[in-house]
Amino acid sequence: MSNNISNNERTSLQGLWSSRITFILAVTGSAIGLGNIWKFPYVAGDNGGGAFVLIYLICIFIIGFPIMVSEILIGRRGRRNPITSMKLLGEEETGNGSWKIVGFVGLLAGFLILSYYSVIAGWTMHYFVLSISGAFNEMNSEQVNFIFNELTGSITTQAIFHTLFMISTVIIIAKGIKNGLEKAVKLMMPALLIILFILLIYSVTQGDFTRGVEFLLKPDFSKITGDSILAAMGQAFFTLSLGMGCIVMYGAYLPNNESIVRTTVTIILCDTLIALLAGLVIFPIVFDNNLTPTEGPGLIFLTLPLAFADINGGLAFGALFFILLTFAAITSAISLLEPSVAWMIEQLNVSRKVSAIAIGFLIWSLGFLTILSFNDLADFTFWKGTIFDNFDYLSSNILLPISGMLFTIFASWFMTKSSSQSELNDISPIAYNIWRILAGVVAPIGVLIVFFNAINLF
Ligand code: TRP
Repeated sequence: MSNNISNNERTSLQGLWSSRITFILAVTGSAIGLGNIWKFPYVAGDNGGGAFVLIYLICIFIIGFPIMVSEILIGRRGRRNPITSMKLLGEEETGNGSWKIVGFVGLLAGFLILSYYSVIAGWTMHYFVLSISGAFNEMNSEQVNFIFNELTGSITTQAIFHTLFMISTVIIIAKGIKNGLEKAVKLMMPALLIILFILLIYSVTQGDFTRGVEFLLKPDFSKITGDSILAAMGQAFFTLSLGMGCIVMYGAYLPNNESIVRTTVTIILCDTLIALLAGLVIFPIVFDNNLTPTEGPGLIFLTLPLAFADINGGLAFGALFFILLTFAAITSAISLLEPSVAWMIEQLNVSRKVSAIAIGFLIWSLGFLTILSFNDLADFTFWKGTIFDNFDYLSSNILLPISGMLFTIFASWFMTKSSSQSELNDISPIAYNIWRILAGVVAPIGVLIVFFNAINLF
């Protein structure tokens, strides 16, 4: 086996990661974010807990894993933004450049997701400020509730923090991939993990741990509907950053001699660990304070301040936690922004700065629809609920699985075996064939079954 795994001659126009470790950190940074700590607990809560979690884990390993491998290998072979990579590879491998449409669907999903992601990240920034100012000191559940409602009721407060968050994201992207990002992730991810463990100790000792664990891990299949299975799959795509081309984009910056499969395994294990840990922290606090798991998007903002108010030195922990969560959100947000920015640079020949500002501005504007979904437009509901609910449902549960499925069908059925194998030739031929079956058959069929099940065709 040669050292140079890929025989690909194309080079990235935006530079490369400096090593395998930085790639792992960047993708882990993209994967771990609000999806693990904010979204996973409340979506699990909304969908009945245990059985949802089980289906989510199954989706991670049999759908998420092969698709992540497919996306990285497409990216590394294409070495461009997801749209151009799909166009180039489509032409090379099948003579048909229309595969670029898959990249477009992904980018559209990325726009929708980042527009609300930034608003929620703004909430965590606001909670950081509240924590250091001591606002959560000795608070009870009603007071915490009041603070949360005050925040979501205020367009101005949300707008300020949404703007701050978007500006930070745009600045990092404008600086390019090597300078800001790599160093930040190296420090922050381990720190976040440590705080989660401290909170876990709190939950075990002070919360209703048994009930929390039971809710999260004991499957009650009577609560499962087609739509909750779809939500579990959507969450798997969301948390692994799959389907929008963000992993394709990061794969484009991966040096040729690094193993795709091994890095994927590491990333998926880290991401899953953090999500489960967050759930184990939140639910014991929920049950101990007579809250309900179905509080919706406010769940962590209603529970965690209670824990911090109760712990010795909780003020400092609270502040540290929310600032780290903000950083985790930033490392995810840049991955949501980078593909469209790279596309604009490579397509329209503008500078990185101009491109980051222009696209950042569009997404920032779109974010106001989410802000308004919690106050003035809270009663304006259709299809799945408020505008925010629809953005989330459409992007996570529909667009990500569709484009993720098409990425993996392309990598397994339409790319020649010699191309895909040359990207994956550090693994044994048996392992390679297992990937092809998972990527080409199991994952696409899985996605389709979940879709049909949700629209009640089965
Ligand atoms: N995975 C991130 C999280 O869990 C969010 C995210 C980053 C994402 N890039 C993405 C979600 C691409 C979907 C698609 O917070």
